[in-house]
Amino acid sequence: MIALLAVCTCAHDEKPPVEAPLAPARPLSTASMEHHFEEADEMRRAAFRGEIDTVREVATSFAARVAESTYPQPWGPAVERLEDVLAVATTVDDVRKTASLIGEIGASCGGCHREHNVPVERDWPLEADPEHRMDTFDYATELLWLGLVVPSDEAWGRGADAYHAALSCEGFESVPVGPEHVSACSSARATGASVVRAGDDASRSRAFADVILHCAGCHSDGA
Ligand code: HEC
Ligand code: HEC
Repeated sequence: MIALLAVCTCAHDEKPPVEAPLAPARPLSTASMEHHFEEADEMRRAAFRGEIDTVREVATSFAARVAESTYPQPWGPAVERLEDVLAVATTVDDVRKTASLIGEIGASCGGCHREHNVPVERDWPLEADPEHRMDTFDYATELLWLGLVVPSDEAWGRGADAYHAALSCEGFESVPVGPEHVSACSSARATGASVVRAGDDASRSRAFADVILHCAGCHSDGA
């Protein structure tokens, strides 16, 4: 009877379908890390636009995915560090706190990679046209983010230079963002200096939070 069933299943198909084994989720696999990268990136992008609802939503599904996984004991503290930040992010409700959580998420990714000597390869973004400030901001923040997540001194350094170079206040007055734009511009300058100075993971995490806050200052609708 069993043999007959097996024949029937295969009759229309050259290759019998391979059943996926019911293995536990593999939290430290390449595929799972690609997921980590995508979700963390989505949170970062939502944060600079001041879209806190999206940050909370993504944090919730991200946290659930991490919670389902099992991993060898030595990885525990690094996974828990990420879990703790994500747990706070599921209920975050202001822009400033969101910015600092994004910095902490980046640092917790980079912390595990550094601590366990995991080499992380990512393509760097293409250099932006300096005429387009927002493209340059986008390019710079992506490099800074890789600087945290990989972690990479070189990515951070290049991102910091690009960001700093884009921080002229010239022309900001013509950007139609309401009365806030002038102060956003001067606080941006201070942020630029701290990004360039930040030399360790903790200060980079804080500097990244300031960058997000600077972007959100213009991008969010009055939050
Ligand atoms: C508990 C430790 C740990 C944490 C936390 C962690 N990673 Fe990883 N990461 C790894 C390991 C281990 C690998 C190597 C996986 C493999 O074998 O490809 C890796 C690899 C990667 C890669 C490279 C994947 C590839 O295509 O080769 C990326 C990207 C990545 N991690 C992103 C992240 C991001 C983003 C976060 C935070 C949201 C994060 N990781 C948090 C352990 C961790
Ligand atoms: C002074 C106000 C201001 C600041 C600060 C600011 N932006 Fe923008 N941004 C704008 C305006 C206005 C637009 C829409 C018009 C345009 O594209 O220039 C825009 C558009 C963009 C776009 C393209 C449209 C989109 O939403 O995808 C990106 C990407 C972007 N900004 C990224 C950033 C990043 C990253 C930062 C922080 C490093 C930042 N911006 C800081 C005002 C600002």
